[in-house]
Order: sequence, then C-alpha cells, then structure tokens
Amino acid sequence: SILIVDFGSQVTQLIARRVREAGVYSEIVPFQSAAEGFARIRPAGIILSGGPASVPDENSPRIPQEILDSGLPMLGICYGQQALTEQLGGKVEKGDSGEFGEAYVTIDEPCALFDGLWDLGDRHQVWMSHGDKVTALAPGFRVVATSPGAPFAIIADDARRIYAMQFHPEVVHTPDGGKLIANFARHVVGLSGDWTMAEFREAKIADIRKQVGTGRVICGLSGGVDSAVAAVLIHEAIGDQLTCVFVDHGLMRSGEAEEVVGLFRGHYNIPLVHVDAEELFMTGLAGVTDPEAKRKFIGKTFIDVFEAEAKKIGGAEFLAQGTLYPDVIESVSFTGGPSVTIKSHHNVGGLPDRMNMKLVEPLRELFKDEVRVLGRELGLPEAFVGRHPFPGPGLAIRIPGEVSKERCDILRKADAIYLEEIRRAGLYDAIWQAFAVLLPVRTVGVMGDSRTYDHVLALRAVTSVDGMTAQAFDFPGDFLPRIATRIINEVRGINRVTYDYTSKPPGTIEWE
Ligand code: XMP
Repeated sequence: SILIVDFGSQVTQLIARRVREAGVYSEIVPFQSAAEGFARIRPAGIILSGGPASVPDENSPRIPQEILDSGLPMLGICYGQQALTEQLGGKVEKGDSGEFGEAYVTIDEPCALFDGLWDLGDRHQVWMSHGDKVTALAPGFRVVATSPGAPFAIIADDARRIYAMQFHPEVVHTPDGGKLIANFARHVVGLSGDWTMAEFREAKIADIRKQVGTGRVICGLSGGVDSAVAAVLIHEAIGDQLTCVFVDHGLMRSGEAEEVVGLFRGHYNIPLVHVDAEELFMTGLAGVTDPEAKRKFIGKTFIDVFEAEAKKIGGAEFLAQGTLYPDVIESVSFTGGPSVTIKSHHNVGGLPDRMNMKLVEPLRELFKDEVRVLGRELGLPEAFVGRHPFPGPGLAIRIPGEVSKERCDILRKADAIYLEEIRRAGLYDAIWQAFAVLLPVRTVGVMGDSRTYDHVLALRAVTSVDGMTAQAFDFPGDFLPRIATRIINEVRGINRVTYDYTSKPPGTIEWE
C-alpha cells in the first residue's frame, strides 16, 4: 500500500482518490502521527501532500526521520517537495509573489513518472498553487521538468526513487496528473494495481467492527444512496447491532418510501423502524412560505422525530451517517473566514451533538461515484444506486410558497411522469438531476370547450460533475412538448408547463 502523509492540504483526499483509481490501496495519516502510521501500515511507498505551512518558518511540519531513512520510494507534492528538499540538504525560500493557477511545464529529461505518458520537449498543463519555492536542489536530485515560474517544477533522484513536483497532480486542472500518480504507484513503487472496491469493503468492515465492538448503532435513512450504502455496509459488519430509522416526512417522490422499506426489510432483512410523520410535517408546514423557514422547520422536526425513535430503541451509543468527502470539505471554509449561507442544507447535522453519540461514518473518504461503485459491490439494485440526488427537505423545496398534501400529490404525479419518460428515452444516466417544480401561480388555459385556471409546472434537468456548478440539459427535439402534453392531460391541477434553462451559477439547482 501507499502511505499519504497529510500536511494539511485541502485536496489530500484527491490524492487518495487518484491512488485508488490506479488500483492501489492507500491510507492518509496526518503529519503529526505519520511515524506511528508508518509503523502500523508498513507501506511500500510514500506520498507527501501539499499544505498551508511554510518550510522556512520555524516549527513548520517535517517528514518523520523514520520515513526519510526508510529507503522507500517517495513522491512529494508542493509542500511535500519543499519539505523533502529542505530535509535532504537543499534550500527553500519564501517567494515574494507566489504562483497560482494554470501553468505549463516543459519536459527536459526522461523520468520514470513519464513512462508511456510524456515525451521529451512536450508541454503539459498543470495546476500550481504555492508561495514558497525550491531554490537549490538537495544532493542527488536533477530537474526533469520546468515551467516559467518554477525552475524546479519536477525533480528526481532515481537512485533513491524520490520524485517531487511543485504543482498539484491530484486536481483535475492537471489533466495528466492521475496518470503521473499511477506511474509512481505502479512503475516506481511497483504495486500491481489490482486493488478494488471489494477490498475497501473488507477493510471498512474490519474498521467498523473495531470501532463499535458490541455497541449498538442507529442509522437514519434518507431514501438516498449515501445513507443506504452506509447502512448496508454497517449491517454487513455488525448485523443486528444496527437499527435503521426512516423518518418519512411525506415529502418523498412517488413510490420512494415503499422502495426503501422493501429494500431494507425485504431484500436485506435489516431492522428498520419506519416512522410515518407526514401529518406532523404537513401541519407544521402550513402557512410557511419562506424557503429558509421551511428548511429549518424540516431539519429541526426531523431531528425531533429521530431522537424520539432513538430513545425508544434505547441504549445506542453510535450514530451512523452517510457523510461523503465533499460534505466534509464543504463544511470547512477555504479561507477560514465566514462563508455566506446560500441554503441551510438539511442533513442530520445537529444530531450527534444534541444526542451525545459517537459517529460512524464509513464513507467519509469517498466521492459520490465511488459510493455508487461500493453500493453495487454490496448488491444494491442498479436502479437504486444510479439514482439522481434528492435533497433532504424533499418536495417541500420544489413547491415555492405554501406546501400542502394536495400540492405534494400533484407534484408527485407530474414528477413521476417526467422521470418515467426520461428513463424510457434512455436519458436518465446522461442527466445529473431532473425534477419538476410546482409553482404557486395559476394561469388561464382552455381544455375541451372549457376555461381552466390551474397551476404552472416547471421542469428542470441539469448536467453537473459535483453539484457545485450545473448546466441546463438540452433535450432532443420533441421530448419536452410531448412531456408537457402528457402531464397536462394526466395531472389534474396543472394546465401549463415550462422548462428552466438557468445554469448554476447564477441559479441554484433546486428552486429554494
Ligand atoms: P443547489 O440547489 O444548492 O443544490 O444548487 C446542489 C445539490 O444539493 C442538493 N441539495 C440538498 N441535498 N440536503 C441535501 O442532502 C439539502 O438540504 C439539499 N439542498 C439541495 C440538490 O438537490 C443538488 O443536488
């Protein structure tokens, strides 16, 4: 395996992801406990991450001596390059300006990292983000690539199999970066590259057993992929020490609640408490029109109901959550300063503090597409695993204005037709998220010989990589007019359908 020493970069998990993509297992350890991690994991190779500190500063983090003396292959990235250089006898200085963003490196000499990838004289795009820079190489090193701002863009010591780069190969803005990391893992370290999600599953099962022991775990199911995958994995690890609680707020899509209950009770035989709280939520939502007020009410009520159920079950000391890596970074601000709240996201956020429970979060290192791979590995049905994201507050934030059971029913029907047609046209997997929004506006129409005065429905479909930015999906020719006609004919209460072409930004994906 590969040990990744984390010097505090925001993107260290991306390094782990690139290593996984190369079919190699890795573990991340913070620099403070790197020596213990090294002794425990006994890796075959080391990657040193970037980080916010400055090598010339007193007390800035260092690579543990055991690792430097190990004779193992090493790859230093950004801060990792600078720490290696300094500790092996070279020189690092504070830059007066720094270099941030896109840059181009020229390949000057051959290097094992470039095998089958980059040729001499080539120029390649990379992503720089650093203030300090190497000004003198440590003995044994040579420069193999340069950029206008970084004369030591990539350096190599072949005898010791140590390589280092000033830029970040792990981010998507270094298009060949994943392959550089794969070359390090496979060609330099010599690992076979046949690690799979099946082994992640085994490793996590062992971790969960170790963490939980004979304790009891409660897991809140949202109906989405993440919490379902977490629950199934935990159940594999500890069986009926796990109880799932599904707080059904009545704001799910058509057939969704039944599907979740069927899957957990029928398919997996996992203990599941299904709380039908529709009335409680609908009563509380009456008269609420402000989007943030809706979100806050739903979040708080969800926690109340969950807590009450947990008390009934009694004695659980662990709370399981399907937290993913992007949830972890979104909650940490890049600058350390306050960030503006666009929307109060409803996840079971406040629960652990309030209930004084320990967290079990087996998916914390994974990205959404990796969770889907793990879900398939665990035997979750494809139709479930491949589902579009669905927000915690459910249909409530797709009904601008007041929410009622009647409006939810209208929206559910229209949404089901829209999604059915998207599936039938084979477009479901090409779309990040598609849904309908029921507007609190009524307009005039004519049906048969009569005047109608009914609601407007907006259809939305977007493509996206991570939900942070999005583009409206362009449906082929007659798709939208056909769906509009079908919805108006089949769903009472809707007499007009529009399509939302707004991208994000400036829009958001959901309407509230
Ligand atoms: P926005 O509307 O902010 O949405 O562009 C980005 C993505 O997040 C989903 N979303 C949520 N997911 N709890 C969730 O778990 C929430 O409160 C929530 N609000 C929005 C949204 O569906 C999209 O995929």
